[in-house]
Amino acid sequence: MNRASGELCRLFGIERPIFQAGMGWVTTGRIAAAVSGAGGLGCIATGGIMGSDELRDHISHVREVAPGRPFAVNLLLPSGADDRDTMGGLDFTRLQLDVCFEQKVPIIVSGLGNPADVVGEIHAHGAKLVCVVGTVRAALKVAGLGADAVVLSGAEAGGHCGPTGTLSLAQDGIGRIGVPVLLAGGIATPQAVAAALALGAAGVSVGTRFLASEESDAHAVYKQAVVDAGERATAVTRACTGKPSRAWRSPFVAEWEGREDEIQPYPEQAIDHFWRAYAGAIEGDVEQGFFPLGQCAAAIDAILPAAAIVDLLAAPAEAAAEAPAE
Ligand SMILES: Cc1cc2nc3c(=O)[nH]c(=O)nc-3n(C[C@H](O)[C@H](O)[C@H](O)COP(=O)(O)O)c2cc1C
Repeated sequence: MNRASGELCRLFGIERPIFQAGMGWVTTGRIAAAVSGAGGLGCIATGGIMGSDELRDHISHVREVAPGRPFAVNLLLPSGADDRDTMGGLDFTRLQLDVCFEQKVPIIVSGLGNPADVVGEIHAHGAKLVCVVGTVRAALKVAGLGADAVVLSGAEAGGHCGPTGTLSLAQDGIGRIGVPVLLAGGIATPQAVAAALALGAAGVSVGTRFLASEESDAHAVYKQAVVDAGERATAVTRACTGKPSRAWRSPFVAEWEGREDEIQPYPEQAIDHFWRAYAGAIEGDVEQGFFPLGQCAAAIDAILPAAAIVDLLAAPAEAAAEAPAE
């Protein structure tokens, strides 16, 4: 393991520098327990909308199945939704944060909004904060606010994404962010992990590959869509939430192509259409659903147990640790 990976593992109490990315509805206690049990960092996603009791149940499940192992909860911080009843609304985030504090969740991973209002509170409760960002500018900002680590997520990534590719973000950002940097977006194979480590990343955060795992809660149709996807299977669209998101080019996504001007800004579009993310992920409704998906789906050809994915992806870090010093 290189120095940056070793520091990352010590900081978060994990054995392998592999984070399983939070994916709304898809990653609950089941996969988080499997990944943390295999030495990576498992993550329960709230999808910006999970209720308090449900979140408590998933946290208990991880503690039961992977006792003593660190794990994370992913929150979508508000960014313009105030207290409205949709993804990332302030009311939900407040309730979810309170559950995390009450349950002494060790690591919180934030997506979407600005963590300025919550970082002090998170640290005061003894938790660590990892922020997922899509630009180097945002990475510098959250590091300055006190984030313990940053995930630089490129345009290849499934779900909400920025405009810049992972490789470009890495070359520009790693080395000047000041806290450990993990790369995300397009990482599905050991070769991609080796590339991330060679670029100086401390670790990787992986979504789409874990979407196609046995323990992800995604509907069988969705998992098969990952396996079947070719290189033109995804598109970036604002159709589901009003924010750019990479997804499988399903009938709902295709329906909005060429009509981008009619898409409302967040949160209005999310209030009308966010239900489609549940319809896709859990009900496997191909006609009406929305299916976030990364470009690396084209490189994934099997649904594996999550622990096997951790083993596969951790191999380059472990090979580096075993190589004799020159
Ligand atoms: C199905 C799906 C759902 C996602 N949901 C969330 C989410 O709820 N919160 C979040 O911060 N990011 C979410 N993301 C983004 C992932 O956390 C991660 O950053 C991304 O998948 C990494 O890129 P990759 O898919 O190429 O591995 C989602 C991604 C996917 C594919």
